[in-house]
Parts: sequence; C-alpha cells; structure tokens
Amino acid sequence: MHKSSHPKYLYFVGKGGVGKSTCSASTALALAEKKNKTLIVSLDPAHNLSDIFETSLEDKPKEIKENLYAMEINLEQRMEKSLKKTIDMMKNLYTYLNVINLEGMFDTLRFSPGMEEYAVIFALEDIFESYRNMDFIIFDTPPTGLTLRFFALPHISVLWIEKLSTLRKKILSRRDSLKNILGEKYHDKELPSTVKDDSVFKELVSFDGRLKTLKNHFSSKEDSLMFLLLNPDRLSFSEGRKIIAAFEKFSLPLNMVIINKSGLYNDNTSDELSQFMESFFADVKKKFNGLKTMELPFKDSGTLSRKDMMTFGENVYRNVPL
Ligand SMILES: Nc1ncnc2c1ncn2[C@@H]1O[C@H](COP(=O)(O)OP(=O)(O)OP(=O)(O)O)[C@@H](O)[C@H]1O
Ligand SMILES: [Mg+2]
Repeated sequence: MHKSSHPKYLYFVGKGGVGKSTCSASTALALAEKKNKTLIVSLDPAHNLSDIFETSLEDKPKEIKENLYAMEINLEQRMEKSLKKTIDMMKNLYTYLNVINLEGMFDTLRFSPGMEEYAVIFALEDIFESYRNMDFIIFDTPPTGLTLRFFALPHISVLWIEKLSTLRKKILSRRDSLKNILGEKYHDKELPSTVKDDSVFKELVSFDGRLKTLKNHFSSKEDSLMFLLLNPDRLSFSEGRKIIAAFEKFSLPLNMVIINKSGLYNDNTSDELSQFMESFFADVKKKFNGLKTMELPFKDSGTLSRKDMMTFGENVYRNVPL
C-alpha cells in the first residue's frame, strides 16, 4: 500500500477513444481492491465515468465501492463560480474605477480563450487541496488539445504575470513621482504608490505562487505519474508524438506508454506500421529515462466486464511501482 503524507496522482492521456476512461477506471478498481483509498476524477467535459461505473456522479466524491470514490468535474459551474469571484475581487481592488462596468465584463470573460483551461487547473488545485487523505487520485483526462493546453497553462501564465508585474511596478513608480511632484495638489492620495501597499501587486504575487506550485506539481516525478495511451494504429501514434513533444517542452514526466487494444489489427499490421511503432518506441525511450511500456489486449466482447477491467488494472499496478 502506498503511504505518504499526500496522494500520488495518476494521469491517463491519449487520443480520443484509445481507452483513457477504461484504463483509469480499471486502475482505480485494482488500487481500491488492494486497499488503497482511491479517488477517480473525470476532467473530461464529456464524462464517461458514470457510464463505466453504472452510477450517477457529481462534482464531489461518491463512494462507489470500498476504498473507491469517483467524481465528475463540472467545468461550466466551476468556471462561473471562479469568474464571479474574480469580478468581486476586481470590484474590491478597483473601487475607484466605477467607469468600467465589471458586471458587463462577465460574458466577455466567460467566452474568452483559455477560460476552460483555467477552470481545469483551478479544479485540480482544489482537488490537490481537498483530498489529501487519499492514497491515489486518478485523472481521466479530456481530449489531447485541452489536456496539453492545461498542462502548459502554468508555464505560459507565469510569463504573463512577470510582464504584468513589471507593468504594475511602472504604474506605481509613475504614481509615486506624481505624488512627489504635485504634493498637495495630487488628487488620488488614497491610491497606493508602492509595491508593498498595492493590493493589485499582492494579487499578482499570490497568483504567481499558485501557478508555480502547479507547475512544480505537474513536473514532479514523485507526485505525478503520467500514462500515455495508444492503440495499434497510425493516428494514435502520430498524436502520441505530439503529446510527447509537449511533455518534453513542459518538463512533464512520462512513466509509461500503454498500447491498449493490442492485437486489434493483428492480421493486417503492416510492416510500415510496425516500423513506425518501433521507431516511436526507440525515440521515446531515449527521451524519458526508465520509461516502461506495456500492452493491454483487445477484448472482443462489446463492453468490457468488471473482471476484464480488474485484470487491466492489476497489469498497470504490476508494471508501475505504485
Ligand atoms: N482493451 C480493450 N478492448 C476492447 N474494447 C476496449 C478496450 N479498451 C477500451 N475499449 C472500448 O473502446 C471504447 C473507447 O474507450 P474509452 O471510452 O475508455 O476511451 P477514451 O480514450 O476515454 O475515449 P474519449 O476520448 O472519448 O474519452 C469504449 O467502448 C471501450 O469499452
Ligand atoms: Mg474518456
């Protein structure tokens, strides 16, 4: 049983339909069976976990069997809540700016690019904070595009905050100069003119800290275990290459590549595809030290049984030191 002061976090990523939900649910079942307190979380806006576990799920953990809890993140609702909070915060910070209609900005912000990605990382932050009593937390991730963007977000946002902080310092220093030049004639005396008194700057520092914590968390080999899922077909391998490039760029650890549905095209796996797969593995093993690989067979049974899933999960469990 894994025991430490906080859980280990497992992420299953890969192209649509490769088996992310199946494998994350299977691993969760096997971990719970081995008496690990396990929480499985769907981050995919098109949730599948309730269908897999044949029970309704909400945005809070539900015990679905001994030691196993499941939840589906409601991104829409979380996005609305965090926007309302941001707008309230802005109202407090910019009490003097009643020219700007902050309420009116809600919809503009709501549909701004990047909002969904922020909603995901804030949800993750909340989960990291709220369920530290678990042994394992498993994430069933959304489609590749959104997943790579939310993993990238802390890196990009930290750069933005750096620029905004420099800008804010300039504003404060201009204010300070004006205060000195105008003396008694300076109208906005109540406005802060130093970093230490400025709530906006404090907010930037605090957000920067949160983002750096997330960034470190994602790239920590001790905390995060990442599983790339592929199927024995060219498209999922091509997408796998893109995922690997992004993992390298953002210093994310990769623990295992799983070829799921192995044997699906056994009769017609062309030499070309075999070579493509071989070169993929040669390449990826060079990039990620100690990377494990494994195969899960294609089960031609319509829907996968609990027994199949348990066997899948035990296989993952055995192949990665959890
Ligand atoms: N090893 C397997 N053998 C047979 N069927 C499988 C296997 N793994 C997954 N499947 C089936 O493949 C389909 C897609 O699997 P799953 O929903 O787990 O993929 P996903 O990556 O989560 O997809 P999405 O990107 O849509 O969320 C499901 O019908 C599932 O039952
Ligand atoms: Mg899925």
